[in-house]
Amino acid sequence: MIINFLKAREILDSRGVPTVEVSLDTEKGSFVSAVPSGSSVGSHEAKELRDGGDRYMGKGVTKAVKNINETIAPAIKGEEVDPEKIDDILLKLDGTKDKSRLGANAILGVSMALFRAAAKEAEKPLYRYISSQFSFKEKMPKPCFNVINGGAHAGGGLDFQELMIVPQKDSFSNNLQIAVESYYQLKVSLEEKYGKSASNIGDEGGFAPKISEPREAISCLAWLGNDLKFFIDVAASEFFDGEKYYIAGRRKTKEEMIGIYKELTEEFDIIGLEDPLEENDFDGWSDLRESLGDTVIIGDDLLVTNIERMEKAFQKKSCNAVIIKINQIGSVTEAISAARKAKEYGWKIIVSHRSGETNDDFIADFAVGIGAEYIKSGAPVRGERIAKYNRLSKIEECLKKNE
Ligand code: PGA
Ligand code: ZN
Repeated sequence: MIINFLKAREILDSRGVPTVEVSLDTEKGSFVSAVPSGSSVGSHEAKELRDGGDRYMGKGVTKAVKNINETIAPAIKGEEVDPEKIDDILLKLDGTKDKSRLGANAILGVSMALFRAAAKEAEKPLYRYISSQFSFKEKMPKPCFNVINGGAHAGGGLDFQELMIVPQKDSFSNNLQIAVESYYQLKVSLEEKYGKSASNIGDEGGFAPKISEPREAISCLAWLGNDLKFFIDVAASEFFDGEKYYIAGRRKTKEEMIGIYKELTEEFDIIGLEDPLEENDFDGWSDLRESLGDTVIIGDDLLVTNIERMEKAFQKKSCNAVIIKINQIGSVTEAISAARKAKEYGWKIIVSHRSGETNDDFIADFAVGIGAEYIKSGAPVRGERIAKYNRLSKIEECLKKNE
């Protein structure tokens, strides 16, 4: 089966920012994908191409769209739908290490659409195509819901970027229900204690109360009961000034930060810490990992879904889990290699959305297909977040029927 037609267009994401949508046609149908975009972007991520200039304050993606329509389409039209092979063609066509020529947003849009076309050709749902083609064991991931938003995603004054609840039931549907009920409950409690504006929400649907002390914000989660555990995405590079961490109005050393985490993990049921230190301090991360014992230490900006950075972190024992964001590396095949590497290292995998999202639910299938332990797709509200959770509910139903 060959690629008959490929066309890209500019659409808007959940923040009203332009992004790339791709349609790829084969004789089996038309396969559409849309590309997400971060705001607390790691400096080592593959580069999305933006237009600059006045239009959409420089954030237009017409150059990336043009690259798909005028450079990528002629190069792959008529080729067999073989995602690994085509991803390789795209990387060569781009020729840069960070995909800055064609744009990671251009390459990824095509890559995702290709995987959908290949799954159709194999007459499998996308998650099954990924697991069977790349020899992974399928698994329903545990969802992590970002119910308090801070950092670059909200204006409440909290420096930690994401406070997530991780319900601990076995089934996805039970965990989803608990998360939604906890979310309602949190809204009421926050409004009671801090006033109506405390339930304003941030980019990922979590509440953004005016609380600057991390401990105070985390204790709001501890009101919830329900045997919840917590993940925290600190996104520490966002408040690192090159020397110290500027948090709640005070400057802290790395050692002081580690002390803060030690206290917080002892007091609360925090089972995972993402980006607790800045993105280049592999050695600091090792010290932190050693002193925090059982906590899952998750590399996001540190690793950027990049195998070379994962190797370095593994050698230095900087972390024991990885965030996989397909757009950080820029092609699905490379994200799959990163997942394989993580399994080889015995690391946990958390598949993640971006703060700027669309209704594309690719990552739901991807997480199940690679057998990720966790997925994070924001709070259990807002269409672009819910698209992933609803898709996971359907996949769970399908998997149960298969049994
Ligand atoms: P981003 O945030 O999508 O804005 O980068 C998500 C994260 O840091 O995990
Ligand atoms: Zn992160």
